[in-house]
Amino acid sequence: MKRTKSLIAAIVFTFASVACTQISIKEVQERNSMTLPDIEIWPQLDIAVKKSDDVEARVAAVLTGMTLEQKIAQMIQPEIRDISVEDMRKYGFGSYLNGGGAFPNDNKHATPQDWIQLAENMYQASVDASLDGSTIPTMWGTDAVHGHNNVIGATLFPHNIGLGATNNPKLIENIATATATEVMVTGIDWVFAPTVATVRDDRWGRTYESYSADPAIVYEYSKAIVRGLQGKPGKNFLGDSQVISTVKHFIGDGGTVGGDDQGNNIASESDLFRLHAQGYVGGLTAGAQSVMASFNSWHGKKLHGHKYLLTDVLKDKMGFDGFVVGDWNGHGQIAGCTNDNCPQAANAGLDIYMVPTAAWKPLYENLLQQVKDGTIALSRIDDAVTRILRVKIRAGLFEKPSPANRILSGKTQLIGQQSHRDIAKQAVRESLVLLKNKNNILPLSPNMSVLVAGDAAHNIGKQSGGWTITWQGTNNTNEDFPGGSSIYDGIKQRIEAANGTVKLSETGQYKTKPDVAIVVFGEEPYAEGHGDVEHLDYQRGLKSDLALLHRLKADGISVVSIFISGRPLWVNAEINASDAFVAAWLPGSQGSAVADVLFTDALGSMQYNFSGRLSFSWPADPNQATVNVYDFEYNPLLPYGFGLSYGDENVLPDNLSETYEKSITQTSGATLFTGTMQKPWELRVFSGHNLQDITASTATVDNVYYRTVDRVVQEDAFRLAITASNNNSGVQIASKNYFREDMSAHAQSNAVLSFMLKPESAIPNEVLLSMNCETVSDTAGSCAADLNIAEALLALPKNEWSVFTVDVQCFVQKGVTFENMVVPFQLGSKEAFTVSLSEISFTFNQAHEANLSCAD
Ligand code: BGC
Ligand code: BGC
Repeated sequence: MKRTKSLIAAIVFTFASVACTQISIKEVQERNSMTLPDIEIWPQLDIAVKKSDDVEARVAAVLTGMTLEQKIAQMIQPEIRDISVEDMRKYGFGSYLNGGGAFPNDNKHATPQDWIQLAENMYQASVDASLDGSTIPTMWGTDAVHGHNNVIGATLFPHNIGLGATNNPKLIENIATATATEVMVTGIDWVFAPTVATVRDDRWGRTYESYSADPAIVYEYSKAIVRGLQGKPGKNFLGDSQVISTVKHFIGDGGTVGGDDQGNNIASESDLFRLHAQGYVGGLTAGAQSVMASFNSWHGKKLHGHKYLLTDVLKDKMGFDGFVVGDWNGHGQIAGCTNDNCPQAANAGLDIYMVPTAAWKPLYENLLQQVKDGTIALSRIDDAVTRILRVKIRAGLFEKPSPANRILSGKTQLIGQQSHRDIAKQAVRESLVLLKNKNNILPLSPNMSVLVAGDAAHNIGKQSGGWTITWQGTNNTNEDFPGGSSIYDGIKQRIEAANGTVKLSETGQYKTKPDVAIVVFGEEPYAEGHGDVEHLDYQRGLKSDLALLHRLKADGISVVSIFISGRPLWVNAEINASDAFVAAWLPGSQGSAVADVLFTDALGSMQYNFSGRLSFSWPADPNQATVNVYDFEYNPLLPYGFGLSYGDENVLPDNLSETYEKSITQTSGATLFTGTMQKPWELRVFSGHNLQDITASTATVDNVYYRTVDRVVQEDAFRLAITASNNNSGVQIASKNYFREDMSAHAQSNAVLSFMLKPESAIPNEVLLSMNCETVSDTAGSCAADLNIAEALLALPKNEWSVFTVDVQCFVQKGVTFENMVVPFQLGSKEAFTVSLSEISFTFNQAHEANLSCAD
């Protein structure tokens, strides 16, 4: 029976939460109106993998022989950057992981042999009883979320959002089978996939990791992918070519307020089940052996510490008998916990702590102590270890040879093999959604003259998105994708085979007017919270891709746009400027397959038709981030399920509205840096004229030291340490190739340049905030300006983050022309200065309260 919380409980609950986090009154009201948990909402699942007496007896026998130290070690999952093989020998961790962008020997170009060697060394150390007395094999977990994406040369499939558009569960199963094979070749046992978030707010930076806003698709796909990764129960289940899978992130990650990564989900319990649990219903029924707890909260309470959802619902009611693994120090976010001290998580039902960084050691010691003093019951530890052992035995880890000696290990020819690339190509073709096709301009004939433009045309990294070799998917070049192909590669191949002509020019330059231009553009890669946005307006305040489309149209050239994105975005203006518009999502390493669908053969017969259908709704204005199928009021530009095929009548006109209700979004101008650099801006450190691009988490130029640091989430900020020198030295944000960007909207709009900063040393006498632009006469730096902000900085607290805002008029008055911006942000000093920076952007309508104002 449902009852509303008693008033006293509500007050206590509210008070406790207000004390530790800042929440809005609206949220407090929503929490208070929440009903008491109703376990009846959750079904008991008919799980395909049944408990067997044999396995249970073996688990019990192993458990009986274990010391408390060995048991706790099973529950600790450190990261390869923070442990050595000797640590593994000494502690015998139950598992370990490599995070996104973490490779054996810290080498991005580690070979499959290097991966196998590390797996072998860790395994041998884990079964070596000489130091810890334990012979339980460890297991390695990795984020193979669109293929084995940390490994150079692996087949990279389209990200989940593109797969959702194919609506083809069989294809998804084949992708999972291929992924399992490539992972197994490197000696790895376990993948942190699939993500089964049902995303209901497209501003979330992980929208592309979601198959659909429709729980029905998520349910079907979760089943299919788990089957493909793990094999079929009773058949090849966790056999020699299969890996353990993880349904993640439990639960509600795709439904946080504002699409905030790691934020708060305030859905009712029945919506939590109906919308956000369907991937678990599908995946657990198919036998997924692990579940990853989510960073997010449900009604203000972090999932890692949520006993009701982890234990009562997931394990007891739904009947999940595998283990729950935490997410990247997620336990440390529970109220009252830190990364190295958190009995609350185990008590709530977490079985494995994912504990990268050096926190693993104190966490291990604290857990030992907490079992000894009764803070955690031994029975809870035994339950956790039982679950871990159960999965290891089911996966045959005690019988399988060591990683280097398994059937697939070392068969490196299987990584990126042709049959896998063929599956990826099929997925690319089926994921393309044709939104506009005026006068049936598509399919194109390959014997025409074609200009290929746009910065995503020949950029495999960009078309692959985040979680691609590096965590953010940035800093990759085409050479990092042996066996892969760009979208341009496919176009070129088709045209040349048919004796047409093709020219590639990123910026759309040509000498002879082409018959048609194919322009490939879209979002820069991002991962997790670094991809959170405030609105869905594509290139707000910048519109450089639109300018390219307009220029081509003005020259009388037909334009086919191929849009690369991790979510639906408001692109009305770009659609208006295109004759055809294709949503291509993030196709992965086999971009050439896009051309299979765009072109006929040389004789004019269609090769492949468009079959992709929107698995999300396409927004009619930038604020439609939460307009979802089955909503009561449903008014997107294009509905869920939309997608043209050849021969269908075109529906989008050329005059879609290019304005919108300005109410909600007018506060945001161009964003330069929010953990990652936003296109087209790049980050550089400099000392005098000595400049260096930032391509890694640390950089040094002469007297300037740069490194990424954490403000709220990992690597969302950076520290700049300058030692005294004769030169102005510091950090600069500049446009790619110092191309002039039109930011005039920002000069007129009562705007501020805004950033977060944390002074970590004394403030020098001179700290220069600078901008740099070009005048039409083409002399670089001819309209630069410096502003000494030292005095204003003195007013800020040391070692704390503050927001700092500068009225852009201060720069306008000094002659900066925003029409030709090349360096919108530069901070430097000649004197010693250490400062951390984060969230660098332009914001409208705040000049009146700027830290530094320059009103006339
Ligand atoms: C992500 C997970 C991922 C884990 C390990 C976390 O930050 O949320 O999806 O599996 O890191 O890389
Ligand atoms: C990601 C990891 C990544 C790390 C970098 C985490 O949130 O999940 O995969 O390596 O951040 O700090």
